[in-house]
Amino acid sequence: MAKALITSALPYINGTKHLGNFAGSLLPADIHARYRRQIGDETLFICATDEHGTPAELAAAAAGQPVADYCREQHDRQAEIYRRFGLSFDHFGRTSSARNHARTQHFFHALDARGFIAERVLDQVYSPADGRFLPDRYIIGTCPHCGFAEARGDQCESCTRPLDPTDLRAPRSALSGSTVLEVRPSRHLFLRQSALADALEGWLGTRRGWPPLASSIARKWLDEGLQDRCITRDLAWGVPVPKPGFEDKVFYVWFDAPIGYIAATEDWAAEAPDRRDWRGWWYAAGNVDYVQFLGKDNVPFHAVSFPATELGSGEPWKTVDVIKAVNWLTYEGGKFSTSRGRGVFLDEALDLLQPDYWRWWLAANAPENHDTDFSFARFATDVNNDLADTFGNLVHRVLSFVAGRFGGIVPAGGAPGDREVRLARQLDGHLSALRSAQEARALRKSANEIRAIWRLANGYLAEAAPWTAIRTELDASALATRVAVNLVACAAAVAWPVIPGTAETVLAAFGLATAPPPLPGTAGEALDRVPGGTQVKIPPVLFARLDGEWVAASRARFSGRAPGAGREA
Ligand code: MF3
Ligand code: ZN
Repeated sequence: MAKALITSALPYINGTKHLGNFAGSLLPADIHARYRRQIGDETLFICATDEHGTPAELAAAAAGQPVADYCREQHDRQAEIYRRFGLSFDHFGRTSSARNHARTQHFFHALDARGFIAERVLDQVYSPADGRFLPDRYIIGTCPHCGFAEARGDQCESCTRPLDPTDLRAPRSALSGSTVLEVRPSRHLFLRQSALADALEGWLGTRRGWPPLASSIARKWLDEGLQDRCITRDLAWGVPVPKPGFEDKVFYVWFDAPIGYIAATEDWAAEAPDRRDWRGWWYAAGNVDYVQFLGKDNVPFHAVSFPATELGSGEPWKTVDVIKAVNWLTYEGGKFSTSRGRGVFLDEALDLLQPDYWRWWLAANAPENHDTDFSFARFATDVNNDLADTFGNLVHRVLSFVAGRFGGIVPAGGAPGDREVRLARQLDGHLSALRSAQEARALRKSANEIRAIWRLANGYLAEAAPWTAIRTELDASALATRVAVNLVACAAAVAWPVIPGTAETVLAAFGLATAPPPLPGTAGEALDRVPGGTQVKIPPVLFARLDGEWVAASRARFSGRAPGAGREA
């Protein structure tokens, strides 16, 4: 049996995430993890909050809290929101955990012992107006590569290249806007990525199945020649640097964060009374298939920096097999923005509607091949067509017919004919297309196949019309009804990775309450799951239609937020 290790990019601790963050890594990872469980793979789905770095320090200061307290609170808050969204993490950890501190320091020692750490004096930006060293992200200027004027000192949001603050042209303080910036010397440690270029090149050459978005960013980066990366910072909050002379520094957040994938697995192992085996997933691990889910800005860190850390250690760490990267989700024609409070945040989304509405739309419209715009109008149209009129309606028509005409018992009798043979052939086609799409982690294609199965079921029902047949041919009506009931069960089972809550409600109506519901391999299997004689209940209405008024009210509610009203705290 295959082992599937799945990680989602670790969400930053500061503030509730928005639908864009959710669509970019958390949801795709959850859908894939659920699919792998559904086909019987031994699956481990790991995530954590990314807690170090300046954003956490500053957000805590803004909230008037000690940073450790702030992080604990925010972690709990995010964990609760993800639970409500149905994210099926095996462990949701924290990069501030003791095990991540230890594991990060371990990697540092291993890299240092093999000569991959270099000490250099860095010109560090100091802002007299702010009275402090300015961390990378708080220096803004023009990107030397693409000319984007609002590039941050750690990374250019426009061309995604990682930067060092001294690369920026016309730099200014993001805190005070002051352009009076001094450069003061400070000793720092560098990971010698240039010395690992050949190893990385060889490693990347053995990776298969990456979407072009991920492989092209990784390729571009290697082709340009790898730069050494500074892995220390003049900050107080983070993993201490275990080296004499560096007592007042911590590791760069991007050094310790991906190591958090490993440490969170160690935490997962330790929380079980019998101590689970984390090494079987990460260290000299056998047949583990490791897939990372992330947004495109995260690709360089996962395709180059973290593998450099792992390979450079000289130890047999599990490296990623496939990086599934996606583009941006935009919001009503512009950017989602955490700092500006622009867009729909996850707590607000749950106030509006239950999670499966969001999960469905964001999967069916995943920004895989290009950026994708979320608008309330488009959202409502798709929800109405797919969820209310196609899936919801199917479930309701079939189950209320069973209740009204067969006393809530799935009827036996009747023999399959041409119509059922045709149905089975089409269903087989969609089931195998769905498997290939899920296997390839293609979200839109998977949603298309799920929708096609829902439509096929509706088409069968309309054609077989058991409500007409019941007047003349009881057997034909019984057959059509039983087949339709099985189609409903199949429609729910195939949709379970995407809309798990609703799918489980529907399956429970037949007493098929196991999670995960197995993914039917063939139509024959799918249409044989609910035998005649099974008692069914009618589930409550699954999805409400969203009308023009709802769209207008929602749009107004979210555009009405005061400019500058951040949601960090
Ligand atoms: N917190 C980062 C982001 O939201 C992602 C970190 S992924 C990790 O962009 F692997 F480094 F943790
Ligand atoms: Zn740029």
